[in-house]
Amino acid sequence: HFVCFCMQNLMAMENQTSVKAFILLGFSCVSEDLQGWLFAGAGAAYLVILLGNSLIIYITLVDAALYTPMYFFLRNFSFLEICYASVTIPRMLINLLGGNKAISILCCAVQMYFFHSLGITECFLLLAMAYDRSIAICCPLRYTLLMKRSHCLQMVAASWAVGSLVSSGHVSLVFTLPYCGPDEIDHFFCDIPPVLKLACADTYRTETELFSLTVLLAIVPAVLILISYSQIISTILKMPSNEGKRKAFSTCSSHLIVVTLFLGTGSVVYLQPKSRNQSLNFNKVFSLIYTVVTPMFNPIVYSLRNKEVKDALSRAIGKIFKFSSPY
Ligand SMILES: *[C@@H]1O[C@H](CO)[C@@H](O)[C@H](O)[C@H]1NC(C)=O
Repeated sequence: HFVCFCMQNLMAMENQTSVKAFILLGFSCVSEDLQGWLFAGAGAAYLVILLGNSLIIYITLVDAALYTPMYFFLRNFSFLEICYASVTIPRMLINLLGGNKAISILCCAVQMYFFHSLGITECFLLLAMAYDRSIAICCPLRYTLLMKRSHCLQMVAASWAVGSLVSSGHVSLVFTLPYCGPDEIDHFFCDIPPVLKLACADTYRTETELFSLTVLLAIVPAVLILISYSQIISTILKMPSNEGKRKAFSTCSSHLIVVTLFLGTGSVVYLQPKSRNQSLNFNKVFSLIYTVVTPMFNPIVYSLRNKEVKDALSRAIGKIFKFSSPY
């Protein structure tokens, strides 16, 4: 539906638009040296993202000890991170290598659509994960009842549905505006604010609509996530045993790190007042954090800080060695 809708929009635009493609400037204003380092850093990060998140998907599929709702959400989250990183990083790497910087309007719209859809889905998945932890810690007796498999599936499906619906709304708002030049996007991927700058119409209304939608969508899950974690923390503080406290705290602190990184950097970029929006370089650096650094942190944070995942990994490695040894 989205693709058809988008095609219709784009065809309707053909007549009033003179721009056929955009140029993604990326990091062309920084020195060649720095571009080389950025390429190496982002390339390495992308490898870590692919390998680390695939490992989480694999280990949660094969190890029976991880057949719980928490790891079901984590598996879907890792899958999402791989998609999310693949929307922006490969293109950025090509750009840094000095490849073709032009991007057709359709590709730009598709990139913008997936980037936002996956970003919104990520907020809601983080919320589902926070909800899961808060039930597990605050009302463990009702956990199996509330976290039935069908229920978890519904939450995950709803997160993906909300993401793609809202994002198609966003993208069609942006691309119903006329673009008649200039055609240079001062960013390393097609994000909404830098593309809106190129529209040759008054973008005030569109910006206000987008801004209020984003605020609503970012604030609702963020507040609910905060409520879940404050419930968790107050329950943990009331726990009698130190061992229980430590265990509960160690799983939740990794969730909190990921949530803080993602929502923190995201809100700096999207929720700043318009006057401060000028400094796009500042935005580029922050965008690097949530497009490259956060997806890379996810597998590190969840596997290195989590005893259950570490145990499952050593079981898997042990099995591989057993198969290959003759004894
Ligand atoms: C995550 O959930 C979505 C929507 O329900 C589904 O399409 C996707 O295959 C899931 N991915 C994994 C790895 O479970």
